[in-house]
Amino acid sequence: MLELLPPPPVDPLWDLAAEFGADPRPERLNLVLGVYRDHTGVTPVMGAVREAEARLAARAESKEYRGLSGNAAFNRAMLATVLGSPELTARATAVQTVAGTGALRLLADLICRTRPGTTVWISDPAYVNHRPIMEAAGLAVRPYRWVDAAGGFDREGMLGDLAQAQRDDVVLLQGCCHNPSGVDPSADAWADLAALAGHNGWVPLVDLAYHGLGDGMEADLAPARMLAARVPEMLVAISCSKNFGLYSDRTGCAIVLGPSARSLRHVETALQNAARTLYSMPPEHGAAVVTTILEDPGLRTAWRAELEVMRGRITANRTDLTAHLANLGHEGTARVLEGQKGMFSMLPLDAGQMADLRTRFAVYGTTSGRINIAGIPAHRIPYLARSVAAVLGG
Ligand SMILES: Cc1ncc(COP(=O)(O)O)c(C=O)c1O
Repeated sequence: MLELLPPPPVDPLWDLAAEFGADPRPERLNLVLGVYRDHTGVTPVMGAVREAEARLAARAESKEYRGLSGNAAFNRAMLATVLGSPELTARATAVQTVAGTGALRLLADLICRTRPGTTVWISDPAYVNHRPIMEAAGLAVRPYRWVDAAGGFDREGMLGDLAQAQRDDVVLLQGCCHNPSGVDPSADAWADLAALAGHNGWVPLVDLAYHGLGDGMEADLAPARMLAARVPEMLVAISCSKNFGLYSDRTGCAIVLGPSARSLRHVETALQNAARTLYSMPPEHGAAVVTTILEDPGLRTAWRAELEVMRGRITANRTDLTAHLANLGHEGTARVLEGQKGMFSMLPLDAGQMADLRTRFAVYGTTSGRINIAGIPAHRIPYLARSVAAVLGG
């Protein structure tokens, strides 16, 4: 049987990460994967997470199976935290998932079970796994424009493309800190999107993977909440990987909003059925940690404060990089990077220039020009800026 297996495509990100692992140069910089690192280059376990884990270990609860929807208290906490109002939570249901990826896949399954062959619109450029996840669930994918020629947000392009989205379509939107571009719509552009969704009737699927790391938690969640209040139906995929630092604990949640509580009567069972055939039920540990933090006012405050420190470091890194690039005579590039948000920045470099950055300077970003701005130790920023300037030339 196995000799029939055709050579599968290699995941481009993990392939680059492996190349980095084999690079012996001491000056190497790994800016490929979206992982926060502190000033020493370490991805820390957050203090609030450590404390929650200690409390959970002391309680030593049973590891018996949980239900197919995972941890019910976690689902309630996600609804309250993300939607932020009783009006929205009253018309929403949530199930715990295997991180943000699991939420996207479960929601894609739900769409497919509801309307096989539905078209899902994704941004161009998109998070590298959006298309594969949607296609794996059997959905058709169409792109809409996101970034203009100058590297800024392409409001006209996006609205023009999405004006063609039909009533039966789904539009996948990243709620904040767009991956890979770092470019987000203004509040006005979000309002235009909500009006378009309301007018044309397509269903937004909001992917939230970086809330808390852009403009702050409430500001980052505001577009998703505004959309939810203005459309009858909406899907939300939530990842706790970045903002709780729970990458390997695979913690996330799928939320479905309908026009009324009654409209949701089949939703949870449909999501459970999808989970049952994929992984049965999600892992408990990360969800228990998040619930412990969110249910305890002291721990919750401590977590939010740590998140603010992370956000501050990301912002400082971006400011520092743009200042160095401007000093090196690349004011245009500096201005583009300055307007970006969240863990990623999109360098105005093509695949050949990114390869140059790798071979000449051991700086690893994705072939599309994306670098993880949250992954640079502060003292290495001058080196990064010099390397980018050398590749840009001029
Ligand atoms: C936009 C976006 N959505 C979803 C995910 C999936 O995250 P998780 O690790 O929680 O599956 C990522 C991860 O990088 C992402 O960037």
